[in-house]
Amino acid sequence: MTLPRFPGVTLSSGNVKNMPVLGLGTSAAPSPTAEAVKKAMEECQTLGLTKSIGVSNFSCKKLADILAFAKIPPAINQVEMNPAWQQEKLMKFCRANGIMIAAYSPLGAAGAIWRTKGVLESEVLIESAKSKGKTVAQVALRWAYDQGIVIVCKSFNKGLYIEGGFKL
Ligand SMILES: NC(=O)c1ccc[n+]([C@@H]2O[C@H](COP(=O)([O-])OP(=O)(O)OC[C@H]3O[C@@H](n4cnc5c(N)ncnc54)[C@H](OP(=O)(O)O)[C@@H]3O)[C@@H](O)[C@H]2O)c1
Repeated sequence: MTLPRFPGVTLSSGNVKNMPVLGLGTSAAPSPTAEAVKKAMEECQTLGLTKSIGVSNFSCKKLADILAFAKIPPAINQVEMNPAWQQEKLMKFCRANGIMIAAYSPLGAAGAIWRTKGVLESEVLIESAKSKGKTVAQVALRWAYDQGIVIVCKSFNKGLYIEGGFKL
């Protein structure tokens, strides 16, 4: 399901039957338009069309803005988070407001042109992995796991799963 797209605001959730979270993602500060969108999403939840409402790439300021008018606070905020970008302030804010964090790019978006070298190529993490007999990816994922957050990791390499590459 895709809800109407407003300037600076994108809403998409795939198939609501299989996708229990509706997401509101924006790179601009929430505006009155975002308020209208959020209300429409809340209506979807009230009607039972979605179990939860999520946001993505929301800073503390954007979350505070949305919390000021939300009847149903966002259940989750999906943001980039990894050992090189720890999002401490945002994490504190989300915890205090009962919002779960979902970390995307937990490996620093390895392979993408916008990747950060601060994760898989981090000397500290490489040393730590060596000393524990783990891969650097395992150390990075373990760090994220220990934050008590949701981790959104990706691999096209089936073998990583089958051979236990994601075993923490
Ligand atoms: N909400 C948003 O704005 C937003 C933005 C970006 C991403 N996301 C979501 O987050 C998901 C994951 O983020 P991401 O793809 O940016 O980054 P990521 O999970 O940090 O990195 C994925 C890359 O890491 C490699 N990789 C995976 N497991 C590995 C391992 N064990 N050892 C070494 N390399 C490994 C993958 O290569 P191989 O495939 O070769 O294994 C792939 O190139 C995406 O699929 C997307 O759905 C959301």
